[in-house]
Amino acid sequence: PLHQKEYLLNGELKIWKGETANVFSSISSTEIYAPTLLGSVPNMNEAAALEALNSSVKAYNNGQGDWPTMKVQDRIKCMEKFVVQMKATRNEVVNLLMWEIGKTLPDSQKEFDRTVEYIEDTIQGYKDLNQKGNRFNTVQGINAMIKRSPLGVVLCLGPYNYPLNETFSLLIPAIIMGNTVLFKPAKFGVLLLAPLLKAFQSSFPKGVINILYGRGREVAAPIMQSGLVTVLSLIGNSKSAIALQDLHPNKNKLRLILGLEAKNPAIILPDANLDLAVSECISGSLSFNGQRCTALKIIYVHESIAAEFNKRFSEKVDALKFGNPWEENVFLTPLPEPDKPNYIQELIDDAKVNGASIINKRGGERMDNYIFPAVLFPINKKMRVYHEEQFGPVVPILTFKDIQEPLDDMAASDYGQQVSLFGKDITTVAPLIDVLVNLVCRVNLNSSCQRGPDVFPFTGRKDSAVGTLSIHDALRSFSIRTFVASKDN
Ligand code: G3H
Repeated sequence: PLHQKEYLLNGELKIWKGETANVFSSISSTEIYAPTLLGSVPNMNEAAALEALNSSVKAYNNGQGDWPTMKVQDRIKCMEKFVVQMKATRNEVVNLLMWEIGKTLPDSQKEFDRTVEYIEDTIQGYKDLNQKGNRFNTVQGINAMIKRSPLGVVLCLGPYNYPLNETFSLLIPAIIMGNTVLFKPAKFGVLLLAPLLKAFQSSFPKGVINILYGRGREVAAPIMQSGLVTVLSLIGNSKSAIALQDLHPNKNKLRLILGLEAKNPAIILPDANLDLAVSECISGSLSFNGQRCTALKIIYVHESIAAEFNKRFSEKVDALKFGNPWEENVFLTPLPEPDKPNYIQELIDDAKVNGASIINKRGGERMDNYIFPAVLFPINKKMRVYHEEQFGPVVPILTFKDIQEPLDDMAASDYGQQVSLFGKDITTVAPLIDVLVNLVCRVNLNSSCQRGPDVFPFTGRKDSAVGTLSIHDALRSFSIRTFVASKDN
């Protein structure tokens, strides 16, 4: 086991002498599921969290600290140094990704490589932004040099499903724009930071990044209550976001950058290419066992093709291989959250009571701490799975007669991230797209929903997001536009 005692505080790797929290893996070599002890991390308390806060506040020093006033070139050098060191941790981090959250080997490698690429592209984006910023605009005899300046101290919380990539898609732009950052990792996917601590410590000046290990209520709550945080940046659920926001003594002064829940639908029109729709809906709804905010979480299929779609889709789901993340061709893997299979079972039972059936042969089979994806049909509004973001292996399907039915449902939904639309006839599809972009923020034509490529804006309407992420958007989200105006030539 990896018993990690080190933590990063005020530019130093310190040894934690207090309580620790065990980290378990959902991967088990035994036939009967028994959580494997992977290691432990510091369980920081309020006093340690406030020490970290003090370090971040001092390093920012109301915008007068070394980091927020540092020259662009020097900040870039720090970030470049970090990437070089990060690359050397690939094997160790990928291995921990598999053990800690059960992500398959190819997906774990992809997550690592995508993160490295993300940081490199962000450095380039930052260079571009500054080149443009150095341009003088002259209006009515006044020269204005446009800049982007930091916001302050950022509290940043990452999710368990992309503990590296999504977390870093907040952390890296926040740092490079000159803010100082307090970062709290999720409960699962926390040990994988251990190999990166040294890289953080040796690349950035003290206080630029402080890492908080521990429970949210013990470390994040007192930091919010202090009122010294300028930005709350989180990818996760709205309940945590609201609870943290409410702790801030002056909510109006807090900028939010949030990636939250979604219930992305697929809409399959009568003329859709069914093979394509089936394979996109499989990866869309079940890659990483459905634990993605961008996953397809409800499928609307036109009644005229429902029988055929359901048959092909169910057969393909039943053929998916379950196993450990490093096994070849494995698609479904053990779930990191111990309570998740019971929750999925509850959704299935509730749907059955309200009139749905499991239409695939293996749906609901339990394997250790896993539940095989259940394809549920027909879904109606009385069911919990119609409303709740399942974030796991269950796929609800319902039919529609008139396209207005899924559109009305989307309009009434609390969420508005993305939609997948499957159909061929451009005269039907084109006007539909004009409506769909007013209901969500990304329309995927004949393809499943996803966040990437990372240069594309990532956001949502209603309860799905606040602010926009992407290589370029995040640099803007974590900064404010400022300028120097002068009458001199
Ligand atoms: O959990 C939500 C992630 O943003 C999903 O990202 O579409 O790249 O898998 P992805």
